[in-house]
Parts: sequence; C-alpha cells; structure tokens
Amino acid sequence: MSVTKPMTVANIAFLLDRLAADTPPNQQIRELTQNALEAVARRQKSGVEGEGLIKWDVDWEHLRRTGLYKLCVVDNGDGMTPDQMASYLNSLAVQGANQTQSISQNFGVGAKITALYRNRFGLVYQSWRDGRGAMVKLHRDDKIGEYGLDSFDLADGPHWTPRIKGAIRPRGIEDSGTKVTLLGGDERQNTCLPPVEAVGMNWLVTYLTSRYFRLPVAGKLQVRVLTRDMDRWPKEEPEPSEKTFNLQTIRGTKHLFDENAATSGTVRLSNADAHWWLFEDGAQASKNMSTRGGRTCQVGIVFQDEVYILRTPPASRRILAGFGIVFGAEHVNIYIEPRAGTSGLDIRADTARSRVLLDGEDVEDANWWERWGAEFRTQLPQAIRDKIDEIIARSNADPQGKLRERILERLKRIREFLRPSRYRRTPDGTVLAVGSVSGGNPEIGGDEGEPRAHRTGGARGGRSSDDYLADLVESGGEEAIPVTPTPREPEVMWVSLGAGREQGELEDMAAEIPGDPATGDLIKANADFRGYLDVVRHFSEEFNQSGDQAIEKLIVEYVREWMALQLVEAVMTVRNLANGRTWTAKEIADALSPYALTTVMMARFHVIERVKRQLGTELSRVVVKAA
Ligand SMILES: Nc1ncnc2c1ncn2[C@@H]1O[C@H](COP(=O)(O)OP(=O)(O)OP(=O)(O)O)[C@@H](O)[C@H]1O
Ligand SMILES: [Mg+2]
Repeated sequence: MSVTKPMTVANIAFLLDRLAADTPPNQQIRELTQNALEAVARRQKSGVEGEGLIKWDVDWEHLRRTGLYKLCVVDNGDGMTPDQMASYLNSLAVQGANQTQSISQNFGVGAKITALYRNRFGLVYQSWRDGRGAMVKLHRDDKIGEYGLDSFDLADGPHWTPRIKGAIRPRGIEDSGTKVTLLGGDERQNTCLPPVEAVGMNWLVTYLTSRYFRLPVAGKLQVRVLTRDMDRWPKEEPEPSEKTFNLQTIRGTKHLFDENAATSGTVRLSNADAHWWLFEDGAQASKNMSTRGGRTCQVGIVFQDEVYILRTPPASRRILAGFGIVFGAEHVNIYIEPRAGTSGLDIRADTARSRVLLDGEDVEDANWWERWGAEFRTQLPQAIRDKIDEIIARSNADPQGKLRERILERLKRIREFLRPSRYRRTPDGTVLAVGSVSGGNPEIGGDEGEPRAHRTGGARGGRSSDDYLADLVESGGEEAIPVTPTPREPEVMWVSLGAGREQGELEDMAAEIPGDPATGDLIKANADFRGYLDVVRHFSEEFNQSGDQAIEKLIVEYVREWMALQLVEAVMTVRNLANGRTWTAKEIADALSPYALTTVMMARFHVIERVKRQLGTELSRVVVKAA
C-alpha cells in the first residue's frame, strides 16, 4: 500500500499576499458582510426568533478609549466560541461553521485574503455566544513576516483568546453576535474613510447596494453615513432618534430599481433569467439613484444574490444594443441571473469573488452577452418595444423613406463595386485580387442571403478550399469567427441629443452601428457631430443668409442624404470583405467601429461638391419660379 505525504505550505504569508493582490480594495466589505449574513442565517436556521441585524458603524468603544476612528461591522448572528475563533479565523482554507467548503460555496479564505491583508495592523474579532464574549486580534507580525493571532499579555502570561467584559458589548447584540473592527495598515489609519480618495463618504451605501442584488436573509443591513467634514463627526454613538449621522438601511440593487422603475419584469432565457427594468425618465432616475450607487443603462450578472459583473456605459450600451435596445438604452437596466443546476450550466465564482465563470469560461470571452442578447431580442418585452418606437418616432426625419429610396437608387449605379473581388494569395505571399466571386451575381436587394459557398451557377460549386481553410485558421490566438454579411442595406437614422441620442452616446463621433457591426441593419448618424454641422453651416452661409426655414430644411436634407450614402456604401462593401481569414468578425468590427465611421464621414470633398451642385440647381429653380 502506498503512503502519501501531504503537501504543506512553506510560506503562508506569501500565499496570502499573493491571493490578496487579486482582490479589489472594497472586497473586504463584501467578505465581512457575507460572513455576518451567514452567521445570521445560521442563527435563524437554528430556530432563534428575532430580526437579523448587520451594521457597519464606527467602533464607538474604540473611539472612546483611543480617540481614533475605526470602522467595524456588528452582527447578531450565531457568534463564535474562543476555540472556534482560534481555528476558523487563523487558518487558510478552513472548513467554517457552515460546513460547506466547496468550489461553489465557501472557500474558507474570504476574510483573510481581503480584510486581514488590508488591516495588517490589526483585525479584531469580538464574539459573543450565550452571553459570554471573547476576543482575538489577527495581524501581520512584521518582525517574523507572518500573519497570525497576536497575544494579549495578561498577569498570568500571554493569552490569544481572552474573555472580555460584558459592558463593551455593542448595541444590537444580545446574547450572541460578532463585532469585527478594522484597524487598518497602521495605528492611526482612519478606516471609516473610503479606501479610494475619489469616492464619496457614502461609499459603503453605494458599494453594498450595487454588490447585493437582494439580501439573502431576513433582517436589516445598515450603514452609518458620515460626512466629509471630519470635525463634525460625533464623538460618541448618536442616539437612534438623532437626525444626523443616523443609520441607513441597505436593500440591494433589485429593491432600488423596483422603486424607481416604471415597469419591470423577467424574461426566461434558456439557461438564465433576465431581469429588466424600464425607467420613464432615464436621466432623472439615474440622478435619484446615484447616492445609493444605482443608475440606468446598466447590465450585470447575478449569482447567489450578488452582482458579479457590472457594466456601465459605454460598454453596457453595446451589450444592450445586442439585447435589442438600439434606442433608449438610458431607460433600461438588464441583470442576468443564470439558473445554476437545472440548466446544466456550471457557474462559479473565482477565488477573489470578483468574477463568475460559466462552464469554466469568462463571460465576455465566451460571448455570453451576445448569446443571451439574441434570446432576449426575440422576446423583447412590449413595454421596452413601445419605448423604442416612441423614440424612433421622435427622431425619424424620413418617415416615408424618400431619402433612403434615393440612396438605394444611387447605390444601384455602382452595384458591381459593392462586392469586392475575391481575395487571393500567390505562393510568394504577395496579394493578388483576381476575378470575381464564385457564382451569383451581386445585386442590390437580390437574394444574397445564401452563403456564398452554397450558391450555384458559378465556376465552382460546393465548398471552396478557401472557405474550408478559413475554418482552420486562428486569428490572434483565437478561433476566427466566420461572418455572413447581411445582404440588406443598413438604414441610416440621424439622431441628436434628446432625439434618439443620449448623453454620453456617440459623443463627438459621427456614427455607430448599434449591436453587431457585421449584421446590424441600423446606422445611427450623429446630427450633433461637428464634422456634419460644419458642412450644414457652410451651406447656410452660402445659400441661406436670410435664414429661410424651407431652404434650411433643403440643405439639411441634401447634406444628410450624401453623407448617409457614403456611410451605407462603406458599411456594405466592408461587410462584403468578410472571408473568414483576413477579414473575420473582429476585423469587420474594427473597420466599422464608430471611429472608422467617423473617418468615412470626414471625407467631405465629394459630399460638398454634390450638395453644392444640387442646391445650386434647386434654388435657382425656386428663384426663377418666384420671379
Ligand atoms: N461574523 C461571524 N459570525 C460567526 N462566525 C463567523 C463570522 N465571521 C467568520 N466566521 C467563521 O469563520 C469562518 C471563516 O471565515 P472566512 O470568511 O475566512 O471563510 P468562509 O466564510 O468559511 O469562506 P469564504 O472564503 O467563502 O469566505 C466562517 O466559515 C465562519 O465559521
Ligand atoms: Mg467568508
């Protein structure tokens, strides 16, 4: 029989520092809150009556004795015995009181790799069970370079888990509960201040509200809100009746959105629930929710009642476009809650609990947003659909599609250029473009929906070796995603602030394809963009010094028409470059990015020439008629 020698950890402090380095500064707030929530849940499960309480507060006792402000968290959970404190808190990867150590539940590292690391001067636990309290102090001993329990030197020698006086029990704890005090990196550090300078004094409220989607236990989560002006901070615990510096209750993201939204609901996707909210006035709602860490135009992923991946504009705008929200993203929030287990989806958090992995893959790497978005689009809630239609109606200056018709008419004249010739490589590596596409006649509006390789009538039938090889090629280390270009000409809609364009969207940019650039059938053109406005202004000065409204309208129409033509042509032709190797989804997306479309719109010479000629004839006709 073989005998295994268990592996040991040679340098725990190094391992802890290494794990801690992967955690964001506020993570310790989550870990200590979570431990408190779990303690409250254990207590409730054991049948004890009474409301659970978790409170982030100033350690008033510490302040009274030292004059220093230190942050603490108090809970009335099940508490710990002195022995439990010594074993649960002073070892890494320990099986704690939940008895649920596993890769999908407790890791036994949370508080140590976050709170202990950031409070190397001291992390003090005072815990009560059946009315009796004891205390431990964890710290980093710089003399020996180790983390561990610090000793309290009493008359009879050193103690590591001494009993403590009943009088120092904080408000809120009756017979059992725990208080954890954060002493910070050194004796004088004020741990009530936010870890990052830039965030406001309501940092705990905003962090906890946005981190917790809903509270997993029955009870109250509260936070003492302090102000910037530290001279005015209370010197002792304010009475509950006092109006300033009182405790604010945290209810989580869902509650905050529910409170502020006009309508909300849940769409059932194949392996996840998509929670959505629609806000009547997006800007106003964002303003109302800002002090509690909320806003509109957000997307997130919910796992075990917590928000793991949170995206705000501009990233969220692109994701929402994929969900079918091509207009009015400012009115919407969508949070995805994967259904673990039943759907066969393996979902878990990373060690630092700042990311979730789905089937072992990062959500963004595995294109989960796109997949969920495609499903959501097909079941777009009516309320959201109505909102989008309302915004389109407000911004559409071409309701009869007259402009569009003229654009398509013109494009027909250059139809043979819309599909570029096939890309070929000679053996010596130089590029040669030879002949045309195999099979099919490129035609606008024709039935080009069929993938190229399956079309008949060309010289070669079946799957070409080009296409076959394309499947084997990797680009930039990732598998190349083949693109099937949409045959339909994209539609151009001119938007401006308040009419189809929202604050922060397309800022100082010419145009954008919301959603997938390779297939999206809408181009938003920015009528507030200076490259466009300059041209309009130029023609107003030349042809409309009197400020005639009808002439102004004509100028705008012509400039838009020619610029839109350029955009449509560029988008269609670039899409048709797709070949699965030199032009994959990524290259197409780059070439059709808002930056690239801005470049297209900035080539204005021919636009100006055409508009000038058109205006010249049109206006002289008007003048002649009037005469
Ligand atoms: N406020 C508390 N009240 C009661 N027990 C606590 C409290 N905080 C921590 N503990 C105990 O200490 C253990 C260790 O906590 P720690 O956060 O380090 O790891 P964990 O919670 O077990 O796992 P995870 O890595 O998922 O956080 C807990 O499992 C729990 O038994
Ligand atoms: Mg924990």
